[in-house]
Amino acid sequence: MSASAATGPVGALTVRNISKRFGGLVAVSEVSFTVAAGEIHALIGPNGAGKTTTFNMIAGAQPPDTGDVLLDGVSLAGLRPDQICRAGVGRTFQIVRPFNELTLVENVAVGALAWTDDVAEARDHARGVLELLGLGDKKDARPSSITLPDRKCLEVARALATKPKLLLLDEVMAGLRPTETDRMVAIFKKLNADTGLTILLIEHVMRAVMALSHRVLVLNYGRLIADGKPEEVTRDPEVLACYLGAEAFD
Ligand SMILES: Nc1ncnc2c1ncn2[C@@H]1O[C@H](COP(=O)(O)OP(=O)(O)O)[C@@H](O)[C@H]1O
Ligand SMILES: [Mg+2]
Repeated sequence: MSASAATGPVGALTVRNISKRFGGLVAVSEVSFTVAAGEIHALIGPNGAGKTTTFNMIAGAQPPDTGDVLLDGVSLAGLRPDQICRAGVGRTFQIVRPFNELTLVENVAVGALAWTDDVAEARDHARGVLELLGLGDKKDARPSSITLPDRKCLEVARALATKPKLLLLDEVMAGLRPTETDRMVAIFKKLNADTGLTILLIEHVMRAVMALSHRVLVLNYGRLIADGKPEEVTRDPEVLACYLGAEAFD
């Protein structure tokens, strides 16, 4: 077991002045924010605002053109995605891509191989994570045979199995029914309360954002236009203007 896995979550995130340009398009422009260890922050904003690109810069999939990302005060600059994962950043992908040839427990065990070479230990850990997410009885199923909400849970399980200090969730509640959303919210609340896991979630489902977040960050056209308490941010005229209207938050 690596040192990062043994010490348990801390997971303070500092994002300093990060930008990403794709040709002529500035997808993310000079964005700075912090997520204190043990907090849950939501990153919201219209489609194309730069939310997923921000996650990609934090997780190393797309290195920032400017600025820096720090985990617990240590810069992640120049690290590959697998190194950033081992440093304690777990993430889900907006488009879920499970290994369809593998069972659920095998899919999740792949995540655990980030911190152990022992396949039996990885499988044991994977079983526990699947139990935690309510997928224990489907551990030997294939991803193609489970429902969309279960596939979303599987994506979370794969990220959690890496033993992150900071968990990045990219729209894991999209397409879920309210009762399924509430179940997912309860899981994240419990994880956060029990282990101090720091969570940054991109989410359009405001029911989940309001239930989970200590703070809400708003991106619009690549710029951070608000960073505050959920009830403040959802009353901010500039935030309301970038959505269709106030009803977007009802
Ligand atoms: N790899 C890429 N190449 C070119 N443009 C991209 C790429 N990834 C994202 N974009 C563009 O950057 C902007 C921000 O995208 P994204 O971060 O996915 O937004 P969000 O997740 O907020 O919907 C969009 O205009 C998108 O089309
Ligand atoms: Mg996105």
